[in-house]
Amino acid sequence: MRVEIASSMLQSTSATFINLFFSFTAIFSLFSLLIFILRMKPWCNCETCRSYLTMSWTGEFKNFIDWYTHLLRKSPTGTVHVHVLGNTITTNPENVEYILKTRFDNYPKGKPFSTILGDLLGRGIFNVDGESWKFQRKMASLELGSVAIRTYALEIVTDEIQSRLLPLLASTAAGQRDGVLDLQDILRRLSFDNICKFSFGLDPGCLLPSLPISRIAMAFDEASRLSAERAMTASPMAWKLKRLLNIGSEKILKGAINVVNDLAEEMISQRRYMGFSTRKDLLSRFMSSINDDIYLRDIVVSFLLAGRDTVAAALTGFFWLLSSHPQVESLIREELDRIMDPGQKVPTFDQIRRMHYLNGAVYESMRLFPPVQFDSKYAVEDDILPDGTFIQKGTRVTYHPYAMGRMERVWGSNCLEFKPERWLQEGVFMPVCPFKYPVFQAGARVCLGKELALAEMKSVVAAIVRRFDIRVASAESELRFLPGLTASVRGGLPVQVGERGSWCLDPN
Ligand code: HEM
Repeated sequence: MRVEIASSMLQSTSATFINLFFSFTAIFSLFSLLIFILRMKPWCNCETCRSYLTMSWTGEFKNFIDWYTHLLRKSPTGTVHVHVLGNTITTNPENVEYILKTRFDNYPKGKPFSTILGDLLGRGIFNVDGESWKFQRKMASLELGSVAIRTYALEIVTDEIQSRLLPLLASTAAGQRDGVLDLQDILRRLSFDNICKFSFGLDPGCLLPSLPISRIAMAFDEASRLSAERAMTASPMAWKLKRLLNIGSEKILKGAINVVNDLAEEMISQRRYMGFSTRKDLLSRFMSSINDDIYLRDIVVSFLLAGRDTVAAALTGFFWLLSSHPQVESLIREELDRIMDPGQKVPTFDQIRRMHYLNGAVYESMRLFPPVQFDSKYAVEDDILPDGTFIQKGTRVTYHPYAMGRMERVWGSNCLEFKPERWLQEGVFMPVCPFKYPVFQAGARVCLGKELALAEMKSVVAAIVRRFDIRVASAESELRFLPGLTASVRGGLPVQVGERGSWCLDPN
C-alpha cells in the first residue's frame, strides 16, 4: 500500500514537473515571439514597409536590390530603415568604416546569421565570431598570404584555362553548340574545379568537354541557395519548424548538405590514410595543425563557398559589361598584346601585375556588379552611426556594395557608367578607400582571398579576350538576379563565341 502511495506521489510530482516544464517552454516561446514581432514593427505603414509587404516594388524594379538602391539614392543620408524587417541599410562610407573597423566588436555576424548558415558552414570561418574566428583567420592568412600558395593557385588556374577553357571556347567558336554557350555556367564550372583542386587537391572535372553534371557541385548549389532562402522567410520559426519536421525545402537542404559533408569527410580520411605532409592543397596544410575532422570539414566547406561563386559571379558581371563596351575591350587587348608574348595564351603572375588597365576594368565591373551584393551584421549594444542613425541593440545593420556602386554621392555623377579609367592616374592603377568600395569587405574581416581572386579573374579575362570575341546573346537589357548568398544571374548568361576578328570578316 505504502509503495503504491509513494509511486502515485512520484507520478503526480513528475506530471506536475512535466506540466510546469511545458508551460514554461510555451510561455518562453510566446514571449520570444512577441519580442521578435515587436522588434519587427509589423504594423509599420510607412511607404517603404508598405511597398515591401505588398511587393508593389516589383511593378517598377526587376531586382529587390534595385529597389533598395532606388530608396538609398533618394535618402539624404544614404541610409534607410525597413521597419518590418528590423533592418537598417546603409551606403554611407563613414558608416561602413564605423561598422567594419571602428566599432568592429559591436557588429559581429551575430547569432541569427550563424543559425541560418550553421547547418552548411558549421564552425567554418564565414560563420563564426570571437576566438574561433581569430584562430582560423590567423591560420588562413598565413596560408593564403604565402608566395608558395599563390604560385600553386595560379598554376592550377593556368592549367584549367589551357587544358579545358580554351579548347571548349575554340570548339564553340568552330560551330559546336551552335556557337552559343551559357558563360555563367562555364565560369562556375571553371571556378569550382579551381577551388576544389586548391582546397582539397581534388579535381571534380566540371569543365571536361562533355560538361558533366557534378553531384557535388549541384549539391553545393542547392545547399547555398536553400540556406540563403532561409534568410528570406518572414520569421525564422517557419524554416526551423520545417527543419524539425524534416519536410519541404528543409528536407532537400539536409540531403544536399549530407552530400557536401560526405565528400569533405571522405577527402579528409583519404588524406589521413595517404599522408598529407608533402601535399600543397589547403586541406593538407590545415591538417598539420588541426585534428578535429568535423572542424576541418567546416573550414574547407567555407573555402569552397568563398572561392567558387564569388569569382564566377565577378566574371559574369565583367563579360556582361564588356560585351556592350567594345572600346574597353580594345584597350584591354592593346595592353595584353603589349605585355604578353605573341602566341602566349595565359599571362604570368608578373605580367598580371603590370596590367593596370585590366585591373581597373576588373575593379570597375565589380563596383557595378559586386559578387556579394550586401552584407549584414547584428548590433550587440545600442549605438549611433556617424550619420546620426540610431541602432537598437540586437537589430540588423546592412551595408550595401551594390547600391554603393550606384551612388552619386560616393562615385560622382557618372557613377552608372562602366569606366575603367576612373581607377587610373597617368595609366597607373590607384586603389580607393576600401570603405567606399567594400566589395571584398574591409577592416578586420577583409576577404583573405582577394589577391588570389583578382589573379584568377585577370588570367581568365586575359586568356579569353586575347583570343575570342564574346557577345551576349540575350534580349534582356538588365541583369536579373536569383536570391542567393552570391550574385547569380537568372537564366544564365548566353553568349556567342567567335575567334577574335572573325566576325568582322563576315559580310553580314
Ligand atoms: C571576386 C572574388 C571574391 C570576392 C568579391 C570576395 C568577397 C568577400 C567578402 C565580401 C567577404 C566577407 C564575407 C562575410 O564576412 O560574410 C569575404 C571573406 C572571405 N573570403 Fe572572399 N571574396 C572573393 C574570393 C575569395 C577567394 C577566391 C577566397 C579563397 C580562396 C576567399 C576567401 C575568403 C575568406 C577566407 C573570407 C573570410 C574572412 C573572415 O571572415 O575573416 N575569397 N570575401
